[in-house]
Amino acid sequence: MKKLVWPLLIVFFLAGGLFAILIGQVILPPEPRPESVAAISEKWTDSGHADSESESFVHWDEDEPPLVPENCAKCHSAYGYLDFLGEDGSEPGVVNAAANIGSVVTCTVCHNPTANQKDSAVFPSGVEFHDLGMTANCAECHQGRTSTITVENRTNGLPEDEVNEDLGFINTHYKIGAAVRYGTEVQIGYEYPDKSYAGFYEHVEDYQQCTDCHDAHSLEITASECAACHPTVSDLGDLRDIRVEETPDYDGDGDVTEGVFGELRTIHEKLYAAIQSYATQVAGESILYADQFPYWFIDTNGNGEADEGEVAFPNQYGSWTPRLVKATYNYHMVVEDPGNFMHNAKYLIQVMYDTLDDLSQVTTVDMSGLIRPE
Ligand code: HEC
Ligand code: HEC
Ligand code: HEC
Ligand code: HEC
Ligand code: HEC
Repeated sequence: MKKLVWPLLIVFFLAGGLFAILIGQVILPPEPRPESVAAISEKWTDSGHADSESESFVHWDEDEPPLVPENCAKCHSAYGYLDFLGEDGSEPGVVNAAANIGSVVTCTVCHNPTANQKDSAVFPSGVEFHDLGMTANCAECHQGRTSTITVENRTNGLPEDEVNEDLGFINTHYKIGAAVRYGTEVQIGYEYPDKSYAGFYEHVEDYQQCTDCHDAHSLEITASECAACHPTVSDLGDLRDIRVEETPDYDGDGDVTEGVFGELRTIHEKLYAAIQSYATQVAGESILYADQFPYWFIDTNGNGEADEGEVAFPNQYGSWTPRLVKATYNYHMVVEDPGNFMHNAKYLIQVMYDTLDDLSQVTTVDMSGLIRPE
């Protein structure tokens, strides 16, 4: 009988230990809980990165041959991005060949040896940033395609207010969140000479890099995390109401409770009015803006509104002067970052303020009450 006690005790302890491990692992997994690949895949499937019908991924389908050209493929094709990284064995840092159509921002775009190790990105201005971790990949595709230098190269030396047939609208491109985050460090806005501008918007330490705020797979923001410090937030719709006490009344409308989004929007509206006034009074042809390529059209009836028939490719605006190229560049740049109020409101308000100031030298602009961020 006595002989059985020890083996029984050992079996008992082993079983107990195993049970404890099971509880620890399965019933109460350690924090942070790893997400299952299935859950990650589902989130990704619902995101813009997986939207195979989007213009971003079907734009070249009807081309002959149907290929995404070298200068577009880094951001519009998974094959193009792997080529850019050098994952396909080609030279890294450039797209070496036009890419096949039919891909989206797939798992392998971000999960391959090079992308996993990637830590730096070069922006269109030529500036390179390090220590970005995996968000360096986000920066490669959300950096826009232009900078102050692009605008200067096209307009330098030309008389500011003379219509010039060689000029045209400069489109910085789309979803440029990464470039806006860095402000003057990458000069995504057209920056006027002799002015100084805000750099990277630091916000707070734990919410600085893309994936601190955006889920890497669903790309969404978790509003409850923001609510920890911004008590007015209860769902995503409230993000635009965020404002901190120190924020001045930049737009001069007397409302110091609206979100910083509201400050940005009013100044953006003032900029539109100033551009319209300049076009009519100085360039000699009325202008309007619409959310359709190539964005700037002739306001044929001069009523300031986008009417039936006016927003059409053949009616695109044509009376470009250097001053108008700069102003329209900045106006559209602000539109193309839907996260503008969060990513770097100060920088964008500075850029818009200086654009208004520049237009005010030759046309009527209402700048009363406006405050330029320090
Ligand atoms: C290879 C290029 C590429 C990379 C890398 C990339 N994106 Fe994107 N991203 C795109 C394109 C293209 C779209 C537009 C997709 C569409 O039109 O549906 C987009 C859309 C988005 C959107 C809008 C979401 C939506 O549902 O419309 C967000 C937010 C975003 N990306 C954030 C990120 C973040 C954060 C990272 C890094 C973790 C990242 N992106 C990496 C190309 C890229
Ligand atoms: C630096 C990355 C990058 C490069 C290079 C790039 N794009 Fe894009 N492009 C994007 C992103 C990000 C979007 C997502 C826009 C969206 O869904 O709103 C986009 C959107 C588009 C769209 C859809 C616009 C819309 O209104 O939905 C077209 C068309 C497009 N790009 C054409 C081009 C062409 C043509 C080239 C090459 C000459 C090019 N892109 C190069 C990043 C890039
Ligand atoms: C735009 C870039 C991007 C794409 C596309 C992407 N991921 Fe990720 N993934 C990341 C980043 C960045 C992380 C690092 C964790 C984080 O910051 O959330 C990550 C983490 C992971 C992890 C580890 C999860 C964890 O909790 O540590 C897995 C697994 C994963 N991804 C699987 C996938 C799968 C499967 C797909 C395609 C369905 C995919 N990823 C697409 C960027 C991406
Ligand atoms: C501090 C938080 C924060 C950080 C950091 C951040 N974003 Fe955002 N981003 C936002 C918010 C908030 C929005 C607006 C979302 C809304 O209005 O629903 C946004 C919007 C966007 C959009 C447009 C989404 C859409 O629906 O069209 C893109 C693209 C984007 N961010 C990319 C990036 C990239 C790339 C980075 C890193 C360089 C980054 N963001 C860093 C908070 C952040
Ligand atoms: C740990 C606290 C904390 C968290 C979490 C946090 N924020 Fe902030 N936020 C701040 C502080 C502090 C400021 C003021 C920083 C500054 O500009 O000097 C700020 C500023 C802002 C501003 C600019 C407000 C203004 O008046 O200019 C916006 C927009 C914003 N946060 C959005 C967000 C969003 C969106 C999230 C969630 C993704 C978030 N914040 C998460 C603390 C936080």
